[in-house]
Amino acid sequence: MATAASTQAPALPLVVAPRAAVPEIAAFPVADHNARHQWHPMADPKAARIAPPLVIERGDGVHVWDLDGNRYLDCTAGLWCVNVGHNHPAVKKAIVDQLDRIAYYSTFSGISNPPSIELSARLTAMLAPERMTQAFFCSGGSDANETAYKLARQYWKLEGRAEKTKILSLRNGYHGVHFGGMSASGNPVWRRAYEPLMPGFIQVEGPYLYRNPWTEDPLKLGEICAALLEREIQHQHPDTIAAFVAEPVQGAGGLIVPPPNYWPLVRAICDKYDILLIADEVVTGFGRTGRMFGCRLWGVVPDMMCFAKGINSAYVPLGATLLSARVAAAWERDHPLAAIMHGYTYTGHPLACAAALANLRIVEEERLDENAARIGAYFLDRLSELLAHPKVGDVRGAGLMLGIEFVADKKTKAPLAPGDPFLERLAAACRKRGVLIRVTGHRVILSPPLVFTAANVDTTLDALHAALAEAP
Ligand SMILES: Cc1ncc(COP(=O)(O)O)c(C=O)c1O
Repeated sequence: MATAASTQAPALPLVVAPRAAVPEIAAFPVADHNARHQWHPMADPKAARIAPPLVIERGDGVHVWDLDGNRYLDCTAGLWCVNVGHNHPAVKKAIVDQLDRIAYYSTFSGISNPPSIELSARLTAMLAPERMTQAFFCSGGSDANETAYKLARQYWKLEGRAEKTKILSLRNGYHGVHFGGMSASGNPVWRRAYEPLMPGFIQVEGPYLYRNPWTEDPLKLGEICAALLEREIQHQHPDTIAAFVAEPVQGAGGLIVPPPNYWPLVRAICDKYDILLIADEVVTGFGRTGRMFGCRLWGVVPDMMCFAKGINSAYVPLGATLLSARVAAAWERDHPLAAIMHGYTYTGHPLACAAALANLRIVEEERLDENAARIGAYFLDRLSELLAHPKVGDVRGAGLMLGIEFVADKKTKAPLAPGDPFLERLAAACRKRGVLIRVTGHRVILSPPLVFTAANVDTTLDALHAALAEAP
């Protein structure tokens, strides 16, 4: 007679492969090995293999150093995230102090940890004007968006309106790389290789003042784009729509600052049709735009907010989704679907939350939002000098979130041809002068740490002027 044990396959003999010798770290030819075994985000692996990488080894304040000891002014804050600057002693101390207690424990199964509890209280206190009362933690901006979309769908199920599932968003919006966020992101370059996307994600035209077929009047454009959103809602039927998500200032999709009437109009439309408004504040959160939160630029209170990056200046990966009291109330119901069947191993990671607590203290005490407003205004003013160049079509920004749009022809606004090496050469020329800028598509994005000074802006402009004079 068969026993339970007989259903198990016999163990295979263990084959141990001989181990390759691992070179000492100090002797390891790091730059030569880059891209042999590591693939980089948003890059063709072949190109990354050919182009020698810039290997950043250390940083301090607004500067970073490469392996050869060259110093660079960091005009990108990593990826618009190291807001308090590199190597900040207070953030490092908070992480080390937490490490000395415990590096990690899960927040599943009725367990928690002090830094995550304190951070949820601190965030909801900072967001009291928005009446955000609940925080759900994760490891980054894509996670935070995914969390928001799932909780938006769950919210409507708890409200007894299960048909409300669709997520509306903007063309040129960027909401991360997971399937939900990618499906909400409105530019085919991020999507085509991974289609088909999630059903029920629809993009509408956003207010892009420099390029739109309607008007050069910002307020008129705000009205037109709000009307387009309303038409799409009516077309899809409001009973099918869970939420509208957008960035208070569009970042990766082109540094697009909406006209001041757009967000208030969107809020009114969402209220009219019972649609949740999700502010993706992954870049704009915690001071970058010159206000502590991007939606405060527009005087608008969202229903949910997504954060990452500036929440702890990227010292340890962290994201968060915040929900308003009104939305969170749905989970008070006695409902078979009320459990949140969502969460990550790293939800509430103690090191990341400890870093966030120290980081937010610095942002608030040093009023880095106000510095971003002041230095950002000076930066934008100086960037306008570049408009004299035949290829600079537009400069724009909010706080220390700035962009330069390049064109092949200023009159027609024809963009640079795909593959035109002009901007890569411009970035290389700036780098040669010790200034790091970021090129995306036909734009340069400038998003330095929020501790940037007027002297740092002047250094950047000197490099940009010289690089523009040099780049063919
Ligand atoms: C507005 C916005 N949302 C989401 C994301 C995705 O964040 P992450 O790269 O941390 O997943 C980004 C990243 O830049 C972003 O800019």
